[in-house]
Amino acid sequence: MNLSFNFLRGEIPFTLSRCVNVVNLILDHNILEGHIPTELGSLTKLEMLYLKNNNLTGNVPNSVGNLTSLRELYISYNDLEGELPETMANMRSLIELGVSVNSLSGEFPPALYNLSSLTLLSLSFNKFKGRLRPDIGLAFPNLQRLYLANNYFTGSIPASLSNCSDLLRLDIPLNNFTGNIPLSFGNLKNLLWLNVLDNQLGIGAPDDLNFINYLTNCKMLEFLDIANNKFGGMLPYSISNLSTTLTKLLIGYNRISGTIPREISNLVNLDMLSIQGTLINGSIPDSIGMLSNLKNLHMESNQLTGNIPSSLGNIRGLLYIYLQDNSLEGTIPSSLGNCTSLQTLDIAQNKLSGSIPKQVIALSSLSVLLNMSYNSLSGPLPVEIGNLTNLAALDISNNKLSGEIPHSLESCSSLEILYLQGNIIEGTIPPLDDLKNIQYLDLSRNNLSGNIPRSITKHVSLQNLNLSFNHLDGEVPVQGVFSDASRIQVMGNMNLCGGIEELHLHPCLKHANKRPQKHIALILVLALGTSAACLTLLLLVSYCCMKKGKHRPSTASSFRKGYTQVSYEDLLNATGGFSSNNLIGSGSFGSVYRGNLSPEGTIAVKVLKLEKQGASKSFLVECEALGNIRHRNLVKISTVCSSVDFDGNDFKALIYPFMENGSLDEWLHPKEGQMLQKRLTILDRLNITIDVVSALHYLHSQCHTSIVHCDLKPSNVLLDNDLTALVSDFGLAKFLSDSGQNADVNQFSTSGIKGTVGYAAPEYGMGGQVSCQGDVYSFGILLLEIFTGRRPTSELFEDNETLHSFVKQALPGQVMDVVDQSALYETEPGDLMDILSCRSDFSDEFVECLVSILTAGVSCSEETPQARISMGQVILDLISIRNKLSRILVHSEKVKISRKGES
Ligand SMILES: *[C@@H]1O[C@H](CO)[C@@H](O)[C@H](O)[C@H]1NC(C)=O
Ligand SMILES: *[C@@H]1O[C@H](CO)[C@@H](O)[C@H](O)[C@H]1NC(C)=O
Ligand SMILES: *[C@@H]1O[C@H](CO)[C@@H](O)[C@H](O)[C@H]1NC(C)=O
Ligand SMILES: *[C@@H]1O[C@H](CO)[C@@H](O)[C@H](O)[C@H]1NC(C)=O
Ligand SMILES: *[C@@H]1O[C@H](CO)[C@@H](O)[C@H](O)[C@H]1NC(C)=O
Ligand SMILES: *[C@@H]1O[C@H](CO)[C@@H](O)[C@H](O)[C@H]1NC(C)=O
Repeated sequence: MNLSFNFLRGEIPFTLSRCVNVVNLILDHNILEGHIPTELGSLTKLEMLYLKNNNLTGNVPNSVGNLTSLRELYISYNDLEGELPETMANMRSLIELGVSVNSLSGEFPPALYNLSSLTLLSLSFNKFKGRLRPDIGLAFPNLQRLYLANNYFTGSIPASLSNCSDLLRLDIPLNNFTGNIPLSFGNLKNLLWLNVLDNQLGIGAPDDLNFINYLTNCKMLEFLDIANNKFGGMLPYSISNLSTTLTKLLIGYNRISGTIPREISNLVNLDMLSIQGTLINGSIPDSIGMLSNLKNLHMESNQLTGNIPSSLGNIRGLLYIYLQDNSLEGTIPSSLGNCTSLQTLDIAQNKLSGSIPKQVIALSSLSVLLNMSYNSLSGPLPVEIGNLTNLAALDISNNKLSGEIPHSLESCSSLEILYLQGNIIEGTIPPLDDLKNIQYLDLSRNNLSGNIPRSITKHVSLQNLNLSFNHLDGEVPVQGVFSDASRIQVMGNMNLCGGIEELHLHPCLKHANKRPQKHIALILVLALGTSAACLTLLLLVSYCCMKKGKHRPSTASSFRKGYTQVSYEDLLNATGGFSSNNLIGSGSFGSVYRGNLSPEGTIAVKVLKLEKQGASKSFLVECEALGNIRHRNLVKISTVCSSVDFDGNDFKALIYPFMENGSLDEWLHPKEGQMLQKRLTILDRLNITIDVVSALHYLHSQCHTSIVHCDLKPSNVLLDNDLTALVSDFGLAKFLSDSGQNADVNQFSTSGIKGTVGYAAPEYGMGGQVSCQGDVYSFGILLLEIFTGRRPTSELFEDNETLHSFVKQALPGQVMDVVDQSALYETEPGDLMDILSCRSDFSDEFVECLVSILTAGVSCSEETPQARISMGQVILDLISIRNKLSRILVHSEKVKISRKGES
């Protein structure tokens, strides 16, 4: 009985206990509440009981101990409490037991020691305490996975675990284990994963890290995390003799000393090397440049000396370099400019000197942080700084930089933090007009002169502005950030005047004491009167325009030609005054209403939220994107409206033909109670997928300039009457210029909106540049969702599981288990006999097709852009699968008919 992944609520009926023959009871991923019924204990034939991911409360009943045939018990992700019952000692057949993420308490449940068949035991994220029994490893001879993370376990890690010769994963971080990692762990030949992060291991003794010599025998090891413990002693040279299969090595925040051995370069598969917060000194070996798979290098807060190795420039894929807070000296190697994927470079608080290499400050991939503060860098800021168009935070403070602020700084439009204080920068402050996202700007303690540019008052995002200790003169503005004394610092500039009162500057001469008070009052009244009149006039004029000018532009807008326009009033009428009855959707950029307009007919009106930063731009982008392109799988804008509403506020809307069949999202995830005319079959889903990929391929490579959609997801795929898919919503689209760089038409914010969580490529989350490969990722996820019916954001994915990994691990053998069951059975759900007979009907060929389709999705949604396959290839693959599938389906239809004839 499998009712998983539904919306079942209420309690589990105790009457289920009458189904005495039930073998598998699968109720996970519902909204069930209340206790686990005691009566379930009478289902003695049960082999699988899945109750995980519900809202169950109370204790685990004693009667579960009667389930002596049970092989798999999952009650994780509930709100269960109390201790696990002693009766569980009878469950001798149990192979997998998952109780993670509850509020279970007590010692390591004693009964479990009797369950010698267990291969998986997960107690993570509960409130278990106390010690593990020293013979725990002997109790579980078949154990493969032991998860105890985030409990209150104390005492030592039992050496007997090394007798579990099948052990693959030992994950026990976030506890209070003491002692050390047993040397006998070197016997664990299959160990892939050893995580003891954040315990109390080690005593600061010289031989604390001896276990590493032994772990070199674990030839399968991929992950080793011993960070945040109390390990002392020298970093053993044998660290470089760990298995070359190792991809992540984390040893930071321990009291480890010594140096980093040259031979660390043996660990050729490392993608993360994290040695920070230790006493390690000496230089970073040049050989580090041979770790060609490295993405993440953490060596901050050590006592490293010598130069930054120029060989780091050989690692093209590096994403993050953290070397701050050491004693590194010499110049910054210009070869770092070769790390063209680099998102963060932090080399602050060292003893670096020389000038800033232009190759490094020109690295446009830098998007999170560039920090070179607290060094002795000299010379001017290179003009190439203008390439940092994606960077959110730039800190070059407290060096010896001279010269003027280059005007190219204006191009760094993503900057949220700019720290240049404590240098000897001179000249005037550039207008900084284009730093639209700036939040913290510190130019203090320099040698800047001239006036404060008035344009700074326009930066609404600015939280703090520090101009103190320069040679600025002239008037301090009173608007914008200058209206709040707590957010600006201007002291130590001898010749500034004016500003708001709290600054206590002397008034500026040209304004003060010229006119008597009376006059000022009069002028004020006049001014107010005039502006009120102007406003009324303006409103009148625009209202008249609206009245008269049906289908005529009501404001002279800057966006491109080519659309007819409708007025605000027309849309108001068409949508019944934007009535909530006609609201068919809303998102971060606005609301979508259904309406009727002649001659267009039924329309969808997307009204943009203009108070939302970037919405106007989004409007322009979408007009631009859709203006020049034409494809059967892209929505077309019927008309647009750029106007003012009756309150005089800007109003912008895009009008599309209305799609009767709504969005793909509604088809894949029907709301509770929503009726669909039909379920999407595998062939329907494949057709939709091919429609989407065709549209993307066209955008990427067949338009004038490449367009990246940036926000592909089921709700942005609309279905027309015959289920043809149309890709919509170009609000986040980006144009790529020929060089492949994005032309920045739509840079809202760096932290920025670059798609939707779950669908946005991982590199975007890390601030990466927009690229066609990003769309390929989103498409891959979309494909997997279309065929599995599971959202990437679904809470069902545990631990490090994602939609991608979930599908990947199921291929090819378990493909039928991950495919959306509703795509397989056209019959009414509940008709069990039909389902069973159908199931045996699936030919090997059909299953192969599904494997090929999902494989395409998996290849598209690989973590790194380089690993993803090309759009062109995907189209070819999917079309050939469709041909094959159609053949098979026609054939099996014939078989069915002929069978019917026989009977
Ligand atoms: C199951 O277990 C409970 C408590 O352990 C016990 O009282 C009961 O008799 C057992 N048998 C059945 C069929 O529930
Ligand atoms: C569990 O194992 C212990 C010995 O380790 C034994 O004394 C006890 O009887 C066992 N319990 C059950 C219910 O088998
Ligand atoms: C457990 O492992 C240790 C060392 O790895 C070994 O000496 C011991 O004999 C093993 N015990 C059993 C019961 O296999
Ligand atoms: C690494 O292993 C090799 C061969 O097993 C050995 O010769 C060498 O001494 C080891 N190096 C270190 C640093 O332990
Ligand atoms: C402003 O700059 C001065 C000089 O660098 C510094 O002392 C002060 O703390 C800064 N204030 C703020 C709020 O950043
Ligand atoms: C700062 O600028 C003034 C002139 O504006 C100049 O006299 C002085 O030498 C400069 N200071 C430094 C440290 O460069």
